[in-house]
Amino acid sequence: MAIRNLRLDEDPILRKKSRPITDINERIKTLADDMLETMYQAEGVGLAAPQVGVLRRIITVDIGEGAYVMINPEILEQEGEVVDSEGCLSFPDVTGYVKRPKKIKVKYTDLDGEDHEIEGEDLMARCVCHEVDHLNGIVFVDKLCEPTEVNYEK
Ligand code: NI
Repeated sequence: MAIRNLRLDEDPILRKKSRPITDINERIKTLADDMLETMYQAEGVGLAAPQVGVLRRIITVDIGEGAYVMINPEILEQEGEVVDSEGCLSFPDVTGYVKRPKKIKVKYTDLDGEDHEIEGEDLMARCVCHEVDHLNGIVFVDKLCEPTEVNYEK
């Protein structure tokens, strides 16, 4: 495993769309291992491949409930809205409020090629949505809103 360099701020790769993964080969497995190591070392809760310079659809997530490696993640359903504060390892100097779904259902493939559908709420939903945005070249600084929009229903 190895720590990879994080792409930061105005790096144009962060604005590009990632391609689906069709073959879960050794390169992808090494990428996943490196992404987890890089994410933990930086004390992040999520990371997307473009943030380490790879335009492929793979994300890692660990909100403190165990690690997920999600290949070709797709948000199938979303429910509710929560505005909460958010950051990103690619924008170390920025935190801000972003509106995200309260609850999502996400479909993905794991490193063994098995398909999964799981539900996530609150931080898990926020994190998966943030990382899937990265795969589409969307970064959270584009979505900042005022904290006055906070939805107290959460
Ligand atoms: Ni991010």
